[in-house]
Amino acid sequence: MKQENDIDAETEQLVEASWNPFDPDFLINPYPQYQLLRDQDPVHRTAFGNLVVTRFDDVFEVLRNPNTSVERDRAGIIEMPEHIKKLQESSMDRPPSILMLDPPEHTRLRKLVQRTFTPRGIEKMRHVTTELVDDLLDQLAEKREIDLIKDFSFVVPFVVIHSMLGLPDADMLNVREWSQTLVQTLEPNITPEQVDAAIWGGTQLNEYLTEALAWKRNTPGDDLLSDLIAVEEGGEGLTEQELISMISLLFVAGHETTVNLIGNGTHSLLNNPDQFKLVLNDPSIDSTIADELLRFDSPVQNSGRQLLEDMELSGIHVQAGEIVLTALGSANRDPRFWGDSAHLLDVKRQDAARHVSFGSGVHYCLGAALAKMEGEIAITRLIRRFPEIAITDEPTFNSRIILRGREKFPIDLGIPVNLN
Ligand code: HEM
Repeated sequence: MKQENDIDAETEQLVEASWNPFDPDFLINPYPQYQLLRDQDPVHRTAFGNLVVTRFDDVFEVLRNPNTSVERDRAGIIEMPEHIKKLQESSMDRPPSILMLDPPEHTRLRKLVQRTFTPRGIEKMRHVTTELVDDLLDQLAEKREIDLIKDFSFVVPFVVIHSMLGLPDADMLNVREWSQTLVQTLEPNITPEQVDAAIWGGTQLNEYLTEALAWKRNTPGDDLLSDLIAVEEGGEGLTEQELISMISLLFVAGHETTVNLIGNGTHSLLNNPDQFKLVLNDPSIDSTIADELLRFDSPVQNSGRQLLEDMELSGIHVQAGEIVLTALGSANRDPRFWGDSAHLLDVKRQDAARHVSFGSGVHYCLGAALAKMEGEIAITRLIRRFPEIAITDEPTFNSRIILRGREKFPIDLGIPVNLN
């Protein structure tokens, strides 16, 4: 099996530092290119016209700088292709989610949702998640040969966020299809056909959530959706449309990212048998393992900002108005920050939690604690229940440069061990 750890050898084979999401090798393993970019061209101009920064310090600084924006072309200088304009016009009647809003609008809405997304609520989900994972593993034990993504990595976060929000039972495959078309809108290389699919998916999801909201108003419970409705009805400025944007973001972000943590994380461990053994035998690392897996192969590879003022990045002057992608996956492996072992998986790494896989600054991931809890439970229980787990065929990738992850991941679970 190809080891991603042979990073120097792989980087030596590359001739030019580039950031090219159309290159299949880059999608499968971007890390050798990241190394070349960090060393030779840390503020790189991509074929899309934007810049990408790959060093930890630059990524961190751009994400935390208040003179940057996540709103679409706030500086008003970008010439959008026709299909992107069509996408923007299609969502004009819906308020943007907090991910696409700057302060002070962002601060107002984030404060309201943060009040409902409490540590107590997340801790409550620990028990629910453990039961869900164990039941699922019982069912999968009978099949033995499974697709880790479809049968496990996707199901866990989907069911958890569904239950946390208190949504009615849904057709999981339909809803996943809609949300997959939507997350494609984050990708820089979205095609006109994908724009049409995203407009369709967005409409379907909107209708589903509008109906769910009406149902929840009549049958409130001890869940996140009821809490958000209470905020709205308390007259604190959350309108019905803002509520739908918020639920839609929580719902989609709640599973389309964590599926990659479980998929990429399990792959990293299977590819590093010494680390796999540590996880198998040493429960003392459970509370930190998710951070190292997040650092090593980030489920969200890039974020981005438009600069509202000029900035100095790696000694290079960058002008206001530039769109700067922040390569989170590269920052997480920058030896300037992590030292010489940056490219190695080390589940005992002391400072792994300093990764930027959840971003940084005001948009720092709202679901970080939830995602880590889910990743830890799903991966440790999977491995300890099935210590003989093995890859049966090389996984395929989802062709995404932002939410990069395995799409099909065939494995043989082997003989289960009784954990109780
Ligand atoms: C491993 C899983 C996850 C990863 C890697 C991840 C990553 C991220 C990143 C990088 C950002 C910041 C984007 C930026 O700065 O432009 C973000 C924001 C956000 N995430 Fe996550 N996320 C994960 C799971 C979740 C979950 C489970 C939820 C909710 C249930 C969630 C909800 C959000 C929300 C609401 C924001 C927007 C915060 C804001 O704009 O203030 N995420 N996430």
